[in-house]
Amino acid sequence: MAYMAGRWRCLLAVAVAAVLSAAGGAGAQETCSGAVPAPPKRGEWVSVASFGGAGDGRTLNTAAFAAAVASIERRRAPGGGLLYVPPGVWLTGPFNLTSHMTLFLSRGAVIRATQDTSSWPLIDPLPSYGRGREMPGKRYKSLIHGNGLQDVFITGANGTIDGQGSVWWDMWKKGTLPFTRPHLLELMDSSDVIVSNLVFRDSPFWNIHPVYCSNVVIRNLTILAPHDSPNTDGIDPDSSSNVCIEDCYISTGDDLVAIKSGWDEYGIAYGRPSSDITVRRITGSSPFAGFAVGSETSGGVENVLAEHLNFFSSGFGVHIKTNSGRGGFIRNVTVSDVTLDNVRYGLRIAGDVGDHPDEHYNHNALPKVDSLTIKNVQGQNIKEAGSIKGIASSAFSRICLSNIKLHGSVPVRPWKCESVSGGALDLQPSPCTELTSTSGTSFCTNSL
Ligand SMILES: *[C@@H]1O[C@H](CO)[C@@H](O)[C@H](O)[C@H]1NC(C)=O
Ligand SMILES: *[C@@H]1O[C@H](CO)[C@@H](O)[C@H](O)[C@H]1NC(C)=O
Ligand SMILES: *[C@@H]1O[C@H](CO)[C@@H](O)[C@H](O)[C@H]1NC(C)=O
Ligand SMILES: *[C@@H]1O[C@H](CO)[C@@H](O)[C@H](O)[C@H]1NC(C)=O
Repeated sequence: MAYMAGRWRCLLAVAVAAVLSAAGGAGAQETCSGAVPAPPKRGEWVSVASFGGAGDGRTLNTAAFAAAVASIERRRAPGGGLLYVPPGVWLTGPFNLTSHMTLFLSRGAVIRATQDTSSWPLIDPLPSYGRGREMPGKRYKSLIHGNGLQDVFITGANGTIDGQGSVWWDMWKKGTLPFTRPHLLELMDSSDVIVSNLVFRDSPFWNIHPVYCSNVVIRNLTILAPHDSPNTDGIDPDSSSNVCIEDCYISTGDDLVAIKSGWDEYGIAYGRPSSDITVRRITGSSPFAGFAVGSETSGGVENVLAEHLNFFSSGFGVHIKTNSGRGGFIRNVTVSDVTLDNVRYGLRIAGDVGDHPDEHYNHNALPKVDSLTIKNVQGQNIKEAGSIKGIASSAFSRICLSNIKLHGSVPVRPWKCESVSGGALDLQPSPCTELTSTSGTSFCTNSL
């Protein structure tokens, strides 16, 4: 034990040094450092191996993870506890985290989800969704789950969280899913959370889902799933505030980063926006969008900055989407410094995207979309510039496009616009007339 404790201490020191050097060396490059207080030095280290676990890829470690977390919770060591996952393949069902803890996956450690889907517990639907996102009623608990937590650090030396999602994707494809699929990591109603330096692979559903959270940093992750895996969104901040996401490589089967805030009448009633969200230096590829807002935005989305994005072989570069019945708002969103290569649509802003939870949604709940700036976008191998289509009785306003240059091997198909006002400066292909009337131009010039 003494030897192991020394080793964990050393690994933790390496992890802390990496975090500190990232913070100290900020210099030229902006980072999320400071968005969340640095976790304190944990007073206790435990290994999942000491709780009857085995990293042999066959032993089911659900009870070992639960016991290790319970031990950290019970002992309340000063500064909290660190749960160390040694090299090896740690097969497990879902388990909960607790407050004031670090989950540390060493290099070569894999937390692998069991494919025995019948053993996954069910939890209540989110109040802002009213039901499971894809099936009515309850939903499967995420592989790694936290509710009502504070001061949680999920990190490692590039260890892997592997969802083995193919069984779930097959059930979705065959239409045999009894309930909504689980996320790899979901944190509900939690604050002061950092997720870093890990690989997430083959999630059954969305990969990382902070919902009703504040003060969240997600950085330096690799998130992978096949392009044909259904709904494997990378990172979906949902009804959460002060979220900073940076330096991730994401290639999955759905939107790489999508900011959400609840679904139709349930999201409107819950009324919790996503606000103050920074997304930067994301690279990757998706059959859908690189960066998205929506389509579930019924609690509202505001004060978003997404910059230095680099997407290739994707459906959309940027996709901002809502629908009649959603209500809510999307406002004060800036997306800048984007490079696109081999992307079908450069940009789409749309008021007719996404399904409804049930027949009780309010058809007259129209979203308000105002003050979006998209600037400094360079694209090659682009097929269509894209479209900006508001809702006839709720036109999108103050939409500013600036310095967007989209090129293709054949001429890029032009912008399509409807029910939108705003301004456009320096666009290739040239902008639609809706954005070149004088009314919106001063807003556009001022917002640059
Ligand atoms: C884990 O979290 C879920 C959802 O928040 C909760 O229902 C469940 O009781 C927790 N389980 C344990 C063992 O604490
Ligand atoms: C990013 O994570 C990798 C391991 O996944 C680590 O080697 C590297 O130091 C991390 N970078 C920063 C800036 O923390
Ligand atoms: C972490 O693992 C991913 C996936 O295997 C790999 O692409 C990446 O290069 C690794 N990063 C480091 C720093 O080892
Ligand atoms: C718009 O959002 C940015 C963050 O991206 C924030 O700094 C700024 O204060 C917001 N502006 C308004 C008018 O709320």
